Amino acid sequence: MNLLMEILPNSGFQNMKAFLFRWAGVKVGKDVEIFQGVKVQGTGELELGNKVFVGHEALFMLNEGSKIIVEDEAIISSRAIVVTGFHPITPTGTRILSREGTTSQIVIGKGCSVLTACVILPGVSVGEMSIVAAGATVTKDVEPYTLVGGCPAKFIKNLR
Ligand SMILES: CC(C)(COP(=O)(O)OP(=O)(O)OC[C@H]1O[C@@H](n2cnc3c(N)ncnc32)[C@H](O)[C@@H]1OP(=O)(O)O)[C@@H](O)C(=O)NCCC(=O)NCCS
Repeated sequence: MNLLMEILPNSGFQNMKAFLFRWAGVKVGKDVEIFQGVKVQGTGELELGNKVFVGHEALFMLNEGSKIIVEDEAIISSRAIVVTGFHPITPTGTRILSREGTTSQIVIGKGCSVLTACVILPGVSVGEMSIVAAGATVTKDVEPYTLVGGCPAKFIKNLR
């Protein structure tokens, strides 16, 4: 799927892209738009709700046993990274792999915008209708209807 996503046109072929994602085990809602080069890595679960938009070269990294839920009408912009886990090195020098790595669920709420080149870290929930400004690294939950930005992402303004 990742290989084919590299060569399909940027904004077209949406039915084929949705088919490919479903074939790869992703739960895909109705009228989802997926742009060129979007990648899904790992063996966790990914759910994309209705009318979700996923921009060019966005990346979902899913440890085994983890889950990413992108609720209806949310936007994941170009080159955003949503990552559920970590494979730390132990004191003996071996890397903890697969399910044994740290892992957790991420929820991108209804109508959220995760803008260009953001990083959403493991375990984070972004509340509905919030905006994560371009380039932010989100380390903690984001309240609904909130603009956050920066690294680590901090409150910028209430959007209600
Ligand atoms: C978040 C964004 C939409 C601006 O929203 P806005 O409501 O117009 O916010 P403002 O421009 O009024 O800025 C409000 C504050 O946030 C800060 N801010 C804006 N964008 C920021 C960013 N990306 N990172 C950190 N701080 C940011 C501003 O500097 C300003 O700070 P100040 O109050 O100290 O001056 C915009 O900055 C952004 O990130 N755009 C990304 C566009 C993009 O990725 N498009 C792809 C769509 S698919």
